[in-house]
Amino acid sequence: MHSAVVMSQSACRFSVRLAQRKSAQDHATTRNTCRRSKSVRVAATMRTDSGSTLPSDWKDTVSKDLQYITKTSEKIAQALNPEEREMQELQQKMEALQSELASSHVEVHRSEGLVDRTLEELRELENVVNRIQVANPPSGSPTKTQPDTTASSETVVRQGSKKNWRNNGLRSTLKMEEGLKNFWYPIQFTSKMKPDVLEPIELFGETWVLFRDAEGKAACIRDECAHRACPLSLGTINEGRVTCAYHGWEFNGQGMCEKMPSTPMCKGVGVRALQVVEKDGLVFVWTGEGQEPDIEVPDLNPPEGYTIHSEIVLDVPVEHGLLVENLLDLAHAPFTHTATFARGWPIPDSVKFHLQDKLAGNWDPYPIDMSFLPPVMTFSTIGLNQPGKIERGLQCKDCKKHLHQLHVNLPAKEGHTRLLYRMSLDFLGWARFIPGIQLVWKAVANQVLGEDLRLVLGQQDRMQRGGNTWGFPVPYDKLAVRYRRWRNELDKMSPMAKAQEIKMNAGELFMEEEPQEA
Ligand code: FES
Ligand SMILES: [Fe+2]
Repeated sequence: MHSAVVMSQSACRFSVRLAQRKSAQDHATTRNTCRRSKSVRVAATMRTDSGSTLPSDWKDTVSKDLQYITKTSEKIAQALNPEEREMQELQQKMEALQSELASSHVEVHRSEGLVDRTLEELRELENVVNRIQVANPPSGSPTKTQPDTTASSETVVRQGSKKNWRNNGLRSTLKMEEGLKNFWYPIQFTSKMKPDVLEPIELFGETWVLFRDAEGKAACIRDECAHRACPLSLGTINEGRVTCAYHGWEFNGQGMCEKMPSTPMCKGVGVRALQVVEKDGLVFVWTGEGQEPDIEVPDLNPPEGYTIHSEIVLDVPVEHGLLVENLLDLAHAPFTHTATFARGWPIPDSVKFHLQDKLAGNWDPYPIDMSFLPPVMTFSTIGLNQPGKIERGLQCKDCKKHLHQLHVNLPAKEGHTRLLYRMSLDFLGWARFIPGIQLVWKAVANQVLGEDLRLVLGQQDRMQRGGNTWGFPVPYDKLAVRYRRWRNELDKMSPMAKAQEIKMNAGELFMEEEPQEA
């Protein structure tokens, strides 16, 4: 019974499973049949709509659908994967931060530039204030930023020395006094002026252009076109007229515009021109007021018997007065020029400058005569018993051979000098024909100047910080002190007095008191 029951139960389960499988098969068959019949219906529809072919864009439609399905499934996968989602969020945050950082960098650079410019402007303003304070010192109160020479004297008194009579109000300045303009200035050697060449030159902070006009005469006009201020020195010379490189306006040697291409000519248009004179191998200009200065063009020729061997023009980044004082000082030679002309010089027990005139004298123990000629010229004659050797203990006049130097220290602009240097010898006349000798002289001049320059630049820097280059002059500073006194007095006189006095004798302008010989 039990077996019969079991058998009947098994048979029953088998028949149920059989029935289930059949039902599933029937269902699948029905589904396939449905699909087939649907496809047949769609195909039939397609054929009906397009006349037996598929629409031409069916592939695009299918491809777009597939892309959409792919993207959607990716998004679903990402949404379902928390790590992926987190990574993406982090990446977005990082990108935002990086872009913020980049714009912050730009801002920082902009701010740095602004700070630099502001500091520069502040320094400029400070310099202006210093200059004004020096020019108009408040009564009874020395300035903080520019200690004047009285302050230096007081320091000496506090240190127990006697009153600093040496200084006597002497002061250096970096400004170009108006009074300096009322002079003839040699601005170029005639040997250096080539036809059809425009040379830009700065004088008292103004820009000029030097050239030869239609008659071959030296001319000097403003280097700033009357039309749109283009530098004329960038142009060319056409039949002795300066032709502006911008629109072709042409200016003659008097600065008058003679041609205005492409537009009706306007009469009376021009630029300023300086009076020019050529004398003794130099081109002089008058930078002062008035059209006909009653002042003679100075004679800068070397003494008789000398031959010019070298003419050099240099731009020096130092205020011209500091350079003049440097050239009028020989006491520094054995300390400064140890690689050039003073190599091996022992330090003398005493160095003196003996005045022969108000602005001229001779050095002791060196065989060198020296003088200053207002406004910016210095002369020196060096006695040489053997070429290239300066013998101590001799006087210049006792030497057989001599080297003569002219230095013209032109005030180009604030803190800059245009230096004209001319060297002549009273022996070795043939040496100037040696090929390449000019380059040798130029290299020597540059080397000597280089030894001075770092020191004079240092002085200029200290002056800009309120320092005083005449804190404590001593007897061997005599000639440079005379120059500085003349310079200090220059602006106190009327233009007429200045011109007359200077014409007579610049030495007359000096104050009575001099540093006394030790
Ligand atoms: S700027 Fe010189 S011609 Fe125009
Ligand atoms: Fe020097």
